[in-house]
Amino acid sequence: MAATKKIIIDTDPGIDDAMAIFVVLRSPQVEVIGVTTIYGKVYTTLATRDALHLLEVAGRADIPVAERKDAKLRIVDFVHGTDGLGNQNFPPPKGKPIEQSAATFLIEQANLYLGKLLSKLCQKDWQSVLLDETFSVNDDMNPAAEANIFGDPDAADIVFTSGADVLAVGINVTHQVVLTDADREISWFNQMERFAQYLSRILEVYFSYHREANLTRGVYLHEPTAILASINPSLVTFTEGLVSVQTTGITRGLTILYNGQKRFSEHTEWSDKSTVKVAVTVDSPSVVKLVLDRLMGS
Ligand SMILES: *[C@@H]1O[C@H](CO)[C@@H](O)[C@H](O)[C@H]1NC(C)=O
Ligand SMILES: *[C@@H]1O[C@H](CO)[C@@H](O)[C@H](O)[C@H]1NC(C)=O
Repeated sequence: MAATKKIIIDTDPGIDDAMAIFVVLRSPQVEVIGVTTIYGKVYTTLATRDALHLLEVAGRADIPVAERKDAKLRIVDFVHGTDGLGNQNFPPPKGKPIEQSAATFLIEQANLYLGKLLSKLCQKDWQSVLLDETFSVNDDMNPAAEANIFGDPDAADIVFTSGADVLAVGINVTHQVVLTDADREISWFNQMERFAQYLSRILEVYFSYHREANLTRGVYLHEPTAILASINPSLVTFTEGLVSVQTTGITRGLTILYNGQKRFSEHTEWSDKSTVKVAVTVDSPSVVKLVLDRLMGS
């Protein structure tokens, strides 16, 4: 049997994050060894509460949750509901986060499993050592930046140029993976299965947001796509290049990819930095099918 990959999920749940967490918990190739939480769609404390709640819904309260300790606040609550999970007034979780901060937990786990750890992180903990990264090519936060990168551009820049094994799956790619109204009607509501039932409640807010903003006929599967690509890289094709993140000014959070094709005569700061993999295309039908299969327990 092939060794299972170990994953740490860094998240600000999040409806598509909830889907991603459930999908991963049902993916036999990987073992979730921890969840770290961070502000974004909700405040960090609420993100922690949501993460604990989701693990309890999944029957996996044994997985430790560690919280990022510094409290930068940048909240976008109109996409996922003010509670991050579709405004369903869920009861508080029974569990608590561990004492360790997210950063300490990540470093400790990385040291413990060095060489075996594949941590799937969303940009915000620069201390992370080995990772597989969700990264986005611009503009859902403002004309320059995507929300996750915008949350901590300095950290993102360090990660991209650190030499770690990074696979960046941008929103230009995840925008191609849509769970349609039709998918939802045929497959979803008829299911008595635990995750499908739970998600059918929280998804309403996410569907309405996409409908009212005229985005697409359905909802984007951002986080499930990124996490499935980290488990099975053949779901995406990718290019390799140097990614640099703008850390100041009005374009703070802007990501630039240099794939080395154009040669420059001067030796510059761009010349010898480490490269990362950046997703170019995605096999959307396979991703949607995998998400539905996992969430329906098959
Ligand atoms: C979505 O489209 C409808 C109909 O064309 C329009 O009335 C509405 O303003 C649009 N909403 C947004 C957020 O652009
Ligand atoms: C997404 O962005 C990357 C980086 O700019 C690019 O290489 C890739 O072709 C883009 N893919 C799509 C589908 O737009």
